[in-house]
Amino acid sequence: MTAVRTQANSRESVGPIGIFDSGIGGLTVAAAIRDRLPGVSLLYFGDTAHMPYGDKSEDAIRYYSIRIAHYLLKNKAKAIVIACNTASSIASRVVEEFVDGRVPVYNVIDPVVDQIAQRYPNGKVGVIGTKATVRTAAYAKGIASKAPNCDVRMLATPLLAPMIEEGFFNNNISTSILKSYLSNRKLKGIEALVLGCTHYPLIRSEMAALLGEGVELMDSAQLLAAELEKEWGPGAKAASAEPKHRFVVSDYTDSFAKTARLFFGRKVHLTEESLWGN
Ligand code: DGL
Repeated sequence: MTAVRTQANSRESVGPIGIFDSGIGGLTVAAAIRDRLPGVSLLYFGDTAHMPYGDKSEDAIRYYSIRIAHYLLKNKAKAIVIACNTASSIASRVVEEFVDGRVPVYNVIDPVVDQIAQRYPNGKVGVIGTKATVRTAAYAKGIASKAPNCDVRMLATPLLAPMIEEGFFNNNISTSILKSYLSNRKLKGIEALVLGCTHYPLIRSEMAALLGEGVELMDSAQLLAAELEKEWGPGAKAASAEPKHRFVVSDYTDSFAKTARLFFGRKVHLTEESLWGN
């Protein structure tokens, strides 16, 4: 795992783990971390004012990510988790530079790359994600550096995140969109498929049904949470006996509030804070 290492005592501090995404998809990562580290407080920021990041310029994504990292640090985050594949592939480096070792920074791509390099060094794997994630080829480059013989097939699936945000899953519409994407010839013969967007765990079972048992689905939320548990384990659990979670978005709507519950798996109280224009 390539989190930027920092002072060991950051793990014992009582601050929350700061998590951010372009919207509310990153709540799947927050939920996985909550399940693995139940004693730890979380501060979640969803940049709903600017989502989807998948269609934004790289400069815009870097700018938003740094601004959010600043906000999380100001609110005493003891670690920063980039819970968005798009921001992870484009802005990890600049966020790490900005944070400059004050707290560890994690992204959702590195644990998946490690896992694929271990399990499929000579295999054929697919990665689906936003246009921006696919354009940067961050997964393909990361895997090539550790498992040069692994054949990585990347496919942009831009309709999936808005479809899920709008509550379209487990129905005819989502099934036909998924069927169309998953039958793309690029993905023919893959042994594993990376869910390269933090929205996708919500359609995991639909994908599994369409792909069948021969294709392993790799979920970045689960893999990252497992890494955090390994690194933060008992110390983090003891740090805060009664965790306090905060969920902040840059643009509040009732529909986000409703969908947030689905992504986090339990009730979420969303508040709005604008980080822009002041
Ligand atoms: N959750 C974002 C990701 O993991 C995708 C949504 C967006 O385009 O903003 O890439």
